[in-house]
Amino acid sequence: MPSVYIKTYGCQMNERDSEAVAAQLMAKGYTLAPSEAVADVILLNTCSVRDFAEQKALNKMVNIAAETRRNRPEAVLGFMGCMAQSRGQELIDRLPDVDLVLGTQKFHRAADYLGEILAGRRDKIVDVAAEQGSEATIREHLLNGSAKKTVTAFVSIMQGCNQYCTFCIVPYTRGEERSRGIPDIVAECRQLVSQGVKEITLLGQIVTSYGKRTISEKDGKSAFVQLLDAVQEIKGLERIRFTSPHPKGYGDDLIEAYARLPKLVESAHLPVQSGSDRVLKLMHRGYTRARYVGIIEKLRRARPEIGISTDIIVGFPGETGDDFEQTLSLAHEVEFDQAYIFKYSQRRDTPAAEMPGQVPQKVREERNKRLLEVINEIAGRKFNTFIGRQMQILVEGPSKKNPARMTGRTRCNKIVVFDGSERHRGQLMDVKITRAGSFTLYGDPAILD
Ligand code: 5AD
Repeated sequence: MPSVYIKTYGCQMNERDSEAVAAQLMAKGYTLAPSEAVADVILLNTCSVRDFAEQKALNKMVNIAAETRRNRPEAVLGFMGCMAQSRGQELIDRLPDVDLVLGTQKFHRAADYLGEILAGRRDKIVDVAAEQGSEATIREHLLNGSAKKTVTAFVSIMQGCNQYCTFCIVPYTRGEERSRGIPDIVAECRQLVSQGVKEITLLGQIVTSYGKRTISEKDGKSAFVQLLDAVQEIKGLERIRFTSPHPKGYGDDLIEAYARLPKLVESAHLPVQSGSDRVLKLMHRGYTRARYVGIIEKLRRARPEIGISTDIIVGFPGETGDDFEQTLSLAHEVEFDQAYIFKYSQRRDTPAAEMPGQVPQKVREERNKRLLEVINEIAGRKFNTFIGRQMQILVEGPSKKNPARMTGRTRCNKIVVFDGSERHRGQLMDVKITRAGSFTLYGDPAILD
């Protein structure tokens, strides 16, 4: 049977999609190749959210095509995911060595299409059509690929987004919001927990809109909170996370869920994008700065320990120096634990790409640098306050940077590195924080109060 190598760009949803495709292919007898250099099938799962991500995947494919053409012309090359969806046939016109272009509603067809191409029945396949029910096709997991147990897992609960933020390509690459049913999701979670998973992250492009059109409110609870309630009930599951939510979805039912559900961790990734009401409106975000700050206050009241991270775009069209100052002041006001800063990138077919007042690249870079300094200074200060404290971590496995050490996560989503061994994997344990690095804590399990 052939071997496959999948390289993933972009977000956690893409990681999850790649995992499901890999698991589907393995079920058909494929093996996972350790690198693209030896794989019979090479798939790039792409991201379109910024131009840089697209260029990276395109360049990668150019290099792969040159190498395979020289050394093993029978290798099968494919694009899948968001850029495959938005560019379709154009990708093959541009890179004729590519055999397969698989859109975001077609991941589950990978095995069939590759089978046809490998058997020589079909030459090139492009499938970027919409497919009813495709939101429920991302369900296979690669647990225990090695002998070691997997502690955390991602579960895809919905696909698509109807928010249409003016900068964002996602509604065009992921389609309309479509949600799986609660029993279907809970069954998948239960199965994972029975295989040793302790923490589940519920995934979607806008999880707070989960089930909006298909599941009615019950006792004042939105469909998403009903789902959280159901997942809370799973015995043996220790922690629930989710990403990404939208601030407008933080109704009181969700805030109250943080206070009520012990498995829902004290952590929220709440993309704010800008601190200026004028820019938020141009972005079509659907909330004001005051509303956003109000949500953070309520969350901190419900769970004082909560870790808050965010996404911020600098240099959105029309963003003035004053607008940017308001983003800086928001960073000071909220004091994020972590923030991902993005320089605005024009995306095809999005309204913002045509807006007046496109900000010069140099200004985007300056603002990126200034904001990063503020974010890092605040986060550094916050991380230092953890030194000397005892915190619960869930141990995930060896540290990527230094495999001799183990790594776990606090409930508030801080990574803690400590001297441990394989026997700690999957354990919930208390550590004393001894040192803080940038966005990492160091702990000692031996010294407890
Ligand atoms: N330019 C820059 N950043 C973007 N993001 C989404 N679209 C764009 C764009 N056109 C950022 C947003 C989002 C994150 C995943 O990517 O901050 O929350």
